[in-house]
Amino acid sequence: MAPGHSRVFFALWPDVVTRRALAAASRRVHERLGGKATRPDTLHLTLVFVGDVDDARLPDLHGAAARVQAPAFDLLLDRPDCWRHNQVAHLGPSRTPPALLNLVGELEAHLAAAGVAFDERPYRAHVTLVRKADCGRMTVGGGDGEMGNREMENPPTAPIPWAVGDFLLVKSSLRPEGARYEQLGRWPLL
Ligand code: 2AM
Repeated sequence: MAPGHSRVFFALWPDVVTRRALAAASRRVHERLGGKATRPDTLHLTLVFVGDVDDARLPDLHGAAARVQAPAFDLLLDRPDCWRHNQVAHLGPSRTPPALLNLVGELEAHLAAAGVAFDERPYRAHVTLVRKADCGRMTVGGGDGEMGNREMENPPTAPIPWAVGDFLLVKSSLRPEGARYEQLGRWPLL
């Protein structure tokens, strides 16, 4: 990352109880699929990935976040899966709550209005539990949607409820020992 630039993203950061449940799920998935378990203190759900930004633009990101007027909501993380193309084992909601899509949409709209570029790939809510996972060991048939809507046999985790009341702007610094995350801002939902 060039000096004076940061790699940033907006995310949901779990409370202590949710984090413990996610960390346990990450351990179990790691036991099953190998790879590299996400450090418990870095477990999160990305809302909007902005990426490399000039630090002079950070106030625009804060401004966009402060303009969000979205309600708090409950999230149920009940769908473990594994993406073969990037070897990411993750946990997401089988039904993404409209309130979550609304929050992402609001943030994106305010960022766009402020002239801030962000990753515009279709949004897929997920918490990364394990990287470099051997997805083929997840289930017969593997990940990448091959599970369809079938129930997984012997799922590695029970559904994890998450009462979402705020969101964060996070700075990521890539280190040899893994990403280091620093909280730049936190905004409450209504
Ligand atoms: P991942 O967990 O699936 O890797 C910090 O890197 C966060 O932003 C992670 O949650 C990561 O998702 C996500 N992220 C990284 N690069 C991204 C990109 N190009 N587009 C969208 N999200 C990205």
